[in-house]
Formats: sequence, structure tokens, C-alpha cells
Amino acid sequence: MHLTPAQLADFDREGFIALPGLFARDEVALLRREADAIYAQPRQEVVREKDGSTPRTAFAAHTFNEAYRRLGRHPRLIRPIEQILGGKLYMHQFKVNAKAAFDGDIWQWHQDYGTWARDDLMPEPLAMNIALYLDDVSEFNGPLWFIPRSHKKGVLAAGHDTSTTSYPLWTLDHATVARLVEEGGGIYSGKGKAGSVVMFHSNLVHASPPNISPWHRVAVYLSLCRVDNHIRQFKRPEWIAHRDFTPIEPLADDCLMELVRTVARPHAA
Ligand code: SIN
Ligand code: MN
Repeated sequence: MHLTPAQLADFDREGFIALPGLFARDEVALLRREADAIYAQPRQEVVREKDGSTPRTAFAAHTFNEAYRRLGRHPRLIRPIEQILGGKLYMHQFKVNAKAAFDGDIWQWHQDYGTWARDDLMPEPLAMNIALYLDDVSEFNGPLWFIPRSHKKGVLAAGHDTSTTSYPLWTLDHATVARLVEEGGGIYSGKGKAGSVVMFHSNLVHASPPNISPWHRVAVYLSLCRVDNHIRQFKRPEWIAHRDFTPIEPLADDCLMELVRTVARPHAA
């Protein structure tokens, strides 16, 4: 899969591209089931909300789960980002965010590259995020909010917030967010059906409100970095900021469907 010149121009201007329905129902159902199985495991990679039990995010699932290993090499995700970043990629970070019904907490306003530059010494914002929704995302269950065009502002001043949620983040202050919303034409709410994808620039300012609805909002985030732009500092755990800079070789387009078929007929020859 490749992006059209019009999509590339949109991405450059707005800082994100929405690709509704990129993954089929069976592919999503497989990943969604595996997400629940991962959240049920007592692993260090599964970060809980402040209540100590609700899953917040599971890191590095592509290193220990077969369905997510395949997703991390999926051509529908890897090829467009190779196109945008102009080279081979490695996986800098991989998260399956739960945003659980009733208890899924806020993600404060931030730029991902702000954290990657400060904590991991990633040289340039030559890295991108992909969000793949595994549940329908509506106005109710904590959709991602983006400030369009904020990716053109460079790395903004931020404070290290280690107390609001269970996960530390470099966050922007209210005055900065208000100014960017004013200048950039408001806030885009990333609603979409399960199977939809949003690709966004690593300097695009984003956040998500708490989920007090009765609907979960599981979403997978791939953070892909150009290989020659690999991180230079290894301060955070390996499962949060990866140190394997091997270029990703994409699998076949039906790699997840192949697993769906295997799971459906485990004893087939
Ligand atoms: C993130 O910004 O990394 C996660 C936000 C979310 O899952 O809502
Ligand atoms: Mn983020």
C-alpha cells in the first residue's frame, strides 16, 4: 500500500492522515482478543492505571505475541511510513493502549518526539506514530485529540509530569495548548470504526480525555523511526524505548489473515 500525492500533501499540511477501515473485521477481532489476553498477564510490560489493576498500556507486545509480531511488520503500516520518512524503519516503541471503560485515564497534551528527544536522544523527528483502533472510537470513549498543523512548531517547551497518571510524560502547559488551538484551527477528534488507522507526525500535539463511558477503547500504537535516526541514549527500559535497530522487512499483506485461519482450524494439516 502506498499513499497518493494528495495524501502526502495533506499529511505535510495537517500533520496526520486518517485511513478508515484499513484492517478487516477478522484481523481486528484477532488482535482485540490477544489484547485482553495480554492485559490479563502479570508482566512488567503491562502498565496499570493508578488504581493498580486497570490496564493502561501494554508495551512491546510485538516481541512476545505472534499476532502483534505480525502487525509490527505489516506492509499496510510499514510501507506508507517508509514513503513518508524516506528510508528503512525500526520499531522505537509499541503500545497497546487500553483506555478501559469507566477507568481509562487521561493522556495529557504532549508531543511524542518531545519525550523521544529528551529521554532517548533521538536526533531528529524522523519518526512517526500509527494508531490502529481495535474498538469503535466515538466522542464518548476517550478519542485521540490532535491539534492540526502543530507539527510545524518544532519541539515545544514541556514539563515532566510524573504525577497526573501512572505513566510519566513531557506535557505542554495550558497557555501553549490554547495558543496552538487558536493558531491551528481547533482540535480534531480522532473518531473512527474499529480497523481504522491514523498516522501522525511525531511533533503533532495530541492528548485524550478519560473514558467514563461503558465502552472500552483499545488502540495499538506503532512508533516507527528511520534506522539512521536511532536513539543515542538508553535511559529508559528496553521494552519502552527499543534498542534493536534492525530494519523491518514487511511481511505479506495477508499475514494476519493467515493467523486468523490457523487459529480457526488449529488441527488443519
Ligand atoms: C499516546 O499519546 O501515546 C496515547 C494516547 C491515547 O492512547 O489516548
Ligand atoms: Mn503520544
